[in-house]
Amino acid sequence: MDMIKSIKGVKDILPEETPRWRLIEDAARRWAFCYGYQEIRIPIFELTALFARSIGSATDIVEKEMYTFPDRDGTLLTLRPEGTAGTVRAFIEHNRAADPLPQKYFYLGPMFRHERPQAGRLRQFHQFGVESFGTSDPRADIEVIALLWRLLSDLSLPDLTLEINSLGSSGDRAAYKPMLLAFLRQQESRLCANCRRRMETNPLRVLDCKVPDCRTATESSPKLTDHLSPEARAHFAQVLAGLAAIGVPYRLNSRLVRGLDYYCLTSFEVTSTHLGAQNAVGAGGRYDGLVETLGGPSVPAVGFAVGLERISLMLPEAGLSLLNESLYYYVAAFGEKGTTIGFILLDELRRVGLSAHCDYRAITLKAHLRQADRSKCRYAILLGDDEVARGSVILRNLATKAQEELPLFGLSSLLKTRTFPS
Ligand code: HAM
Repeated sequence: MDMIKSIKGVKDILPEETPRWRLIEDAARRWAFCYGYQEIRIPIFELTALFARSIGSATDIVEKEMYTFPDRDGTLLTLRPEGTAGTVRAFIEHNRAADPLPQKYFYLGPMFRHERPQAGRLRQFHQFGVESFGTSDPRADIEVIALLWRLLSDLSLPDLTLEINSLGSSGDRAAYKPMLLAFLRQQESRLCANCRRRMETNPLRVLDCKVPDCRTATESSPKLTDHLSPEARAHFAQVLAGLAAIGVPYRLNSRLVRGLDYYCLTSFEVTSTHLGAQNAVGAGGRYDGLVETLGGPSVPAVGFAVGLERISLMLPEAGLSLLNESLYYYVAAFGEKGTTIGFILLDELRRVGLSAHCDYRAITLKAHLRQADRSKCRYAILLGDDEVARGSVILRNLATKAQEELPLFGLSSLLKTRTFPS
């Protein structure tokens, strides 16, 4: 029969990989907690309209990357391509703006985008994201960027660069777009087909195109940061000064426009040369108008998300061996009485919180020892009919082969105090 395989761009994370994932997730949770963020769990699928209205109908995500399907009644649903829209929807739906602000949330979980799969780019990928609601002060932007930077630095990811830009207010962008469009029209013949199409619907995205000819053609384009309102300029200056004050290094990048339409003012991205083409580890920015766009009150907000697959690709191997959680005790029970008592002992060890393992297929001591050596256990507990008669077991260190005899009665409590000395 044909084997059913997984979907292209959707990966299994196998047991040997989960320790590194847990390390990343634990660090993310720890840092989120330090910065005062609380976990929120939002649905994997939502009404399609939520994403179209927030991310923007002229973006790559909404135009061609969403997994959208009709529900049985015909309602269009979409697997979430990111976490900001759902978090904002939940914030509005549960009337959280009526509670004291700021409110700061984080999430971890799978996202879905129909992109061309390659290293670091999947169709089901995972994000850790944070969203801070209720503060327009530049210090909220700095705090969010600091959290991102501290997390990635704590994980010792190599060659990180924080790039930052200001997208101004919506008024600033409205005034800038005709200027940019006039410039782009002059350069039209030098732009790629995608940019020629995008120019009219979303001209800012042309600045972000990676095609070398497009980059040369837009080299001398007018810069949004040269056309910011005094308020937006002051906000940006304060964000940059704050980053410098807390020692977070950054590089200005006037091309950084982001692929989602909800951003205003600060936008940022952390990249690494270790990642190849998909070089963004994480990104985010301010989105002061989004809560209102989605039908809520006017609440300023800022956040970011990082891609866990990309972090995992970059995580240095050093230190990871410590994480390979080994099973602790292998119960090598054999003989008639030994097997019966051994099974009870196995359960007792687990009940007191010890990690214990046994291969039920093994019947002889020899077979058990072979399986114990193959397992990741540190010790084997040998228990045959003779040991049962003596009321004892033999504890064998699988690395050194040293053995000692211990009483069977009270063994699990004894081993617990030895495994986790207080
Ligand atoms: P984004 O830039 O679309 O922003 O995604 C953030 C990160 O998710 C990227 O930097 C990348 O590491 C990872 N990522 C995105 N697409 C893929 C993919 N196909 N495969 C693997 N990793 C991927 C957002 O999603 C915004 N919601 C961030 C945000 C939160 N802004 C404000 N709050």
